[in-house]
Amino acid sequence: MSKAMQAERKMWSKFYSYDEWMESQGIPIYRGYYIEDLRTLELGWWDARECNSAFIQLTGQEGVTSARVTEIPPGKSLPPLKFALDEIVYVVEGRGLTTISAGEKRPKKTFEWQKHSMFLLPHNYTHQFTNMQGDKPVRLLHYNYMPLTLSGVRDVNYIFGNPYEGADIQNEMDFYSEAKMVSQNLLDESWGRRAYWYGNFFPDMKAWDKLDSNARRGAGGRSVYIQFPDSEMSCHMSVFDARLYKKAHRHGPGRVIVIPVGEGYSIMWEEGKEKVVVPWHEASLFVPPNKWFHQHFNAGGDPARYLALHPPMQFHGHAEKVEDRAKDQIEYCNEDQWVREKFEGEMTKRGITSLMPPEAYSDPNFEWNWKPFLKGDN
Ligand SMILES: [Fe+2]
Repeated sequence: MSKAMQAERKMWSKFYSYDEWMESQGIPIYRGYYIEDLRTLELGWWDARECNSAFIQLTGQEGVTSARVTEIPPGKSLPPLKFALDEIVYVVEGRGLTTISAGEKRPKKTFEWQKHSMFLLPHNYTHQFTNMQGDKPVRLLHYNYMPLTLSGVRDVNYIFGNPYEGADIQNEMDFYSEAKMVSQNLLDESWGRRAYWYGNFFPDMKAWDKLDSNARRGAGGRSVYIQFPDSEMSCHMSVFDARLYKKAHRHGPGRVIVIPVGEGYSIMWEEGKEKVVVPWHEASLFVPPNKWFHQHFNAGGDPARYLALHPPMQFHGHAEKVEDRAKDQIEYCNEDQWVREKFEGEMTKRGITSLMPPEAYSDPNFEWNWKPFLKGDN
C-alpha cells in the first residue's frame, strides 16, 4: 500500500498516533466502559519503565486523555523520567515519595504521599517515584493529555527526555505548593460561589471536607474544584449522601472518574439508546462517553465521593449559552421511570430504603436543601 493510501486510511480510522505508541509498549490496554478495581487490575511488565503497568483507554476517553496504572514493588524506586507535559497522579494504594527536579534552574523537591493523595507533576520536570514500604506494592493512577500532544508532534522524543528546561520560574507557587483553599465568586451567578483547591499536592482526597453546595445536580451534593499552578489541567471532587442519587447530565469526552470512597453505581447512555450500568466502590474508574447522559447513585450507607479528572477545557462540552445548559441535564421529574425503580430495587436488595424526597419527582422546580451529612464525612 502506498504511503498516500496508508495516510488516507489513517485519516478515517480513529486510530491515533497515541494508540500506535501504546500498542508498541507491550503492556495490557484496557478498553470498554469501566475498571471495577484499580487495586487488582492485571498489569504487564513494561521494559522501558522497569515496572508493571497497564494503559486504560476507555470508550469515553476518545483519544483525548491518557490514563495508566503503575506498580512500584516494595522498597523500590523507578528510574527517573523527564516528561514534557503536566500529569496528575492519584495514589490508589501504598505510601511513597516523589522527587521532582528541573536542571539547575529550580531546586529539587521531594514530597511524601500516601493512599488517596493526589499531585501534579509539572511539565518539563524529571520525576522519580519511590515506594517507602518494604512489604507492599504501590499503585499509582496517571492522567495526562499525551494523546493530543502526539496528534500534534507524533514524536515521543519530544515528550520523554526532551532536554528543554522551560522558562525561568516567576513565582514559587509555579514550582511546587501544598494545596490551599480558595473561595471565589464567579462572574456567572448561575454557577454560584465555588470553592477551589489550589496547589500541586493534595494529601488526602478521602478526607477533604471543605466543600460547597452543588444543589444544581441534586442529592445534596457538595463539591470542590481543583486547579494547579501554571497548568490548564483541573479536576473536581463531589460528595453526596447515602441512599440518594444525582440528576443525569452530559458533557464532552475524556473525563476520567475515580472513586476514593463509597459504594454505588452509575448509569450511562446515549440519548434514546440502551443504558450501561457501571458498579463502583473504592478504586473503581469509569469514563462517561462523549455527550452520553450519566447519573450517579449512592447505594451504600455512607457518603460517597468521586474525583473527576478533567479533559482540556476545549472538550468540556457545555452549551455556550447559560440557558442551553438545561438540555444537558434531566430533572428528576422528567427521568425515565426505570431509573427510580432500579434505585429502589437496589435499596431493597441491601435492606434499606431510598431517601429521595417524593417532591423531587413531582415538582419540576424542586430545590434541594443542603443538609449536613447524615453521618460523619468520610
Ligand atoms: Fe459528568
